[in-house]
Amino acid sequence: MKYLIANWKANKNLEEAVQWVDFILNSNTQVSQLKVVICPPFPLIYPLKEKIKNSSLIELGSQDISAFESGNYTGEVTAKSLQGLIRYALVGHSERRSNFKESDQMIQKKIINAKKYGIEPILCIRGEQDVIPDETRMVVYEPVYSIGTGNNEQPAKVIETLEKLKLDSSVTFFYGGSVNINNIGSYLATSRFDGFLVGTASLDPAEFLDLIRKI
Ligand code: PGA
Repeated sequence: MKYLIANWKANKNLEEAVQWVDFILNSNTQVSQLKVVICPPFPLIYPLKEKIKNSSLIELGSQDISAFESGNYTGEVTAKSLQGLIRYALVGHSERRSNFKESDQMIQKKIINAKKYGIEPILCIRGEQDVIPDETRMVVYEPVYSIGTGNNEQPAKVIETLEKLKLDSSVTFFYGGSVNINNIGSYLATSRFDGFLVGTASLDPAEFLDLIRKI
């Protein structure tokens, strides 16, 4: 099974999100052994859930999840609130680590909360320096210099890092950082990648459909 995860970040309104999903669904693309996970902004999760309810291709994830379980934390979106709406949650994205000062300790709490409510956390790491808690079953390696820059890290170099991480063989491993239609083939040519986290190239549905068809 391969995964293609669309990280929309702080982009798209309801109309644009619906158009994106319609475009992919209307393409009638049937791909076995592939899961497409859309991670939209929080308010778009529920309307998209309704749209994809008959799709076997698309699933939903969040871009983050609260480290708190519930209570007086204005603005937080908890695992409990998201339970039943999403299957996956990105945690520890480098943009959250740097812009919102998220620590490894806070990220571990997010992982524990997600799991408690039946959501599979997908831990984003920037490299060997980031802690991978034991509970983690899905890891995305995203070197900071590759995110949103067009400067993807070469597969051989990613594999070097993967080997240093010494992940349990049951852990699913993804690469992220400027993945696009011109470079995805170089990763697929090795058998070391279970999937990709795609930002920029996930925003245009036609571009993203090309990636789906390439896998
Ligand atoms: P990018 O973003 O594909 O635009 O590099 C990836 C990510 O940050 O998840």
